[in-house]
Amino acid sequence: MAKENNNIVIFGASGDLTKRKLIPALYHLYANKMMPENFTILGVSRTDYSDDAFREKLAAFLKENEKVDEETLSRFCQHLYYLPIDPADSSKYDQLAARLETLSEKHNTGHNNLYYLATPPSLYGVIPECLANHNLHDQSNGWKRLIVEKPFGYDTATAESLDKKLHDQFEENQLYRIDHYLGKETVQNLLVFRFSNGMFEPLWNRNFIDYVEITGAEFLGVEGRGGYYDGSGAVRDMFQNHLLQVLGMVAMEPPAAIRSDSIRDEVTKVMQSFRPLSDEDLKNNLVLGQYTSSDVRGEHLLGYREEPGVAEDSRTETYIGLKMFVDTWRWNGVPFYVRTGKRLPTRVTEVVIHFKKTPHPVFGANAPENKLVIRIQPDEGILMSFGLKKPGAGFEAKEVSMEFHYQDLKESQLLTAYERLLLDAIKGDSTLFARSDAVKACWEFVEPILSYKEDPDSLFGYAAGTWGPEQADALLKRDNREWRYPCKNLTNTEYCEL
Ligand code: BG6
Repeated sequence: MAKENNNIVIFGASGDLTKRKLIPALYHLYANKMMPENFTILGVSRTDYSDDAFREKLAAFLKENEKVDEETLSRFCQHLYYLPIDPADSSKYDQLAARLETLSEKHNTGHNNLYYLATPPSLYGVIPECLANHNLHDQSNGWKRLIVEKPFGYDTATAESLDKKLHDQFEENQLYRIDHYLGKETVQNLLVFRFSNGMFEPLWNRNFIDYVEITGAEFLGVEGRGGYYDGSGAVRDMFQNHLLQVLGMVAMEPPAAIRSDSIRDEVTKVMQSFRPLSDEDLKNNLVLGQYTSSDVRGEHLLGYREEPGVAEDSRTETYIGLKMFVDTWRWNGVPFYVRTGKRLPTRVTEVVIHFKKTPHPVFGANAPENKLVIRIQPDEGILMSFGLKKPGAGFEAKEVSMEFHYQDLKESQLLTAYERLLLDAIKGDSTLFARSDAVKACWEFVEPILSYKEDPDSLFGYAAGTWGPEQADALLKRDNREWRYPCKNLTNTEYCEL
C-alpha cells in the first residue's frame, strides 16, 4: 500500500499522549525515512500556542527523552503547525478548513487528511460531527481517515452509541480504532508463528493443549492517572481490549489471506465465541483485586486508595484474573486463564501454551510438561520447554528448554506500536485496528463482570509487588494447575528484576 502525502491533524495536541507517544513516533518514522515525501502535522487544542511555541515545546521534549539528531529534528519541526481552537466548537472548524487548505498548498500534501482523536473520550462523538459539518470528512477530494483512541466506550451501550455517531459521518473503512497492543511486533508475530510453521498448527487445539495462560503484568501503579483509572479499572483499561485482542490472535482460525478483513473476520469470530459468563463463573472463576501498600525492594509503595485522584473508599479493581472458555470446535473444554494487574512484581506480558502430558506416563507422573512461552514484552522471544533424559543412571526425565530472543535478530530494530499503527493508518491498512463488531463482542463478554463489580464480596486485596490476590492462585490450584511466575528475563523464574 502506498504512503500518500497527507496532513495529520491531532486533536488534543497539548496533551500527554501527543507529547509522549505520537510525536516521538512520527519523529522516528521521519528520521528513518518512512514518512511520505510531503506531510504536515497540525496540532489542534484549546491551549494558546503559536506554531513556533508548539514546535519548541515538542522539540525540547524530544531532545530530553529520545535519541535525536539536531538537524533532522529541526527539519521535522518544519512540518509541525498548531491551531488553537476548542475542538468541541463547530463554528471554529472554518478556521481548521482554511488552515488545512493553506498547508496543503504550501506542502503539496493534497487533500488526504488523517485525523487523530487524542482528546478526552467525551469528544470522540463530537469532533467527527464538527468535521462533517464542514465537509472535512468528504472523500471526493482525497481520503479522510479517523483514528480513535482507547477507551472505545465505557460499556456495551456507550460503545454502540459512539459507533453509531461515528458511522453517521464516516464509513467503517475510514475508522481506525487503536489498540496499541496490536501494534506490537510480538503480537503480530503470533499470526506468523502460528500460520507459517507446519509443526505447531496441528497441535494447536483441544486434543493437545491442556490450558492457556495470558498474563499482562505491570509493576507500575496508576502513576498520576488515578482520576482516569478510578473510573475505569483493570477490566476496562487492559482486559476488555488489550488482553482479549491477544487472546483473539492466539485462538483464531487461519485467515483465508493476509488481508485486513480476512484476519479481522477470524479474530472477531473468536470474540463472538467467548462462552458468556454465568453467575457461577463470576463467583468461582473470576478474581478481582486491589493493591494495598507494601515495601518492595526497599521502596515504600502506596496502596491504591492512597494514590492521588483515587477515592478513599474506592472499589475499583487493579487486578483481574479470569478462567474463561472459547466455545469452538478447536477450543472446546480448554480453559484460558487470563490475568492483568498493576503493582505486580514486574512488567511482563506473555502467553503460555501448556500441552497435555503423554497418554501414558512411562517416566512417572512428575515428568516435565511441554510448554511454549510466547513473550510479548520485555525480552521479546519464544521459549519451548520439553523433557530430556537426565544424564546418569536410570531413565529420569528432566525439563530443558530452547529459546529465541528477538534481540538476537540482525533486524532487531523493532518499530514501536505507535510507529507501526500510525504508518499503517497513513497507508490505509486497517489490519491492526479493532473492528466495530470485535469491540462490541468484547464489551458484551465483559458486561457481566462490570455488573459483578458492584457486589460487596467481589474485591480482594493484594500487597503491592505480589502476584495478585491469593484467590487467583487458588483458581488454578483447584484445577491442579499453576500460573507461571515470569520474570523480566524470558528464561528466568527464580527471582524478579524490574
Ligand atoms: C494502556 C493502559 O492502554 O496500556 C495503561 O491505559 C497501561 O494503564 C498500558 O499501563 C500498558 O501498555 P504497555 O504497552 O506498556 O504494556
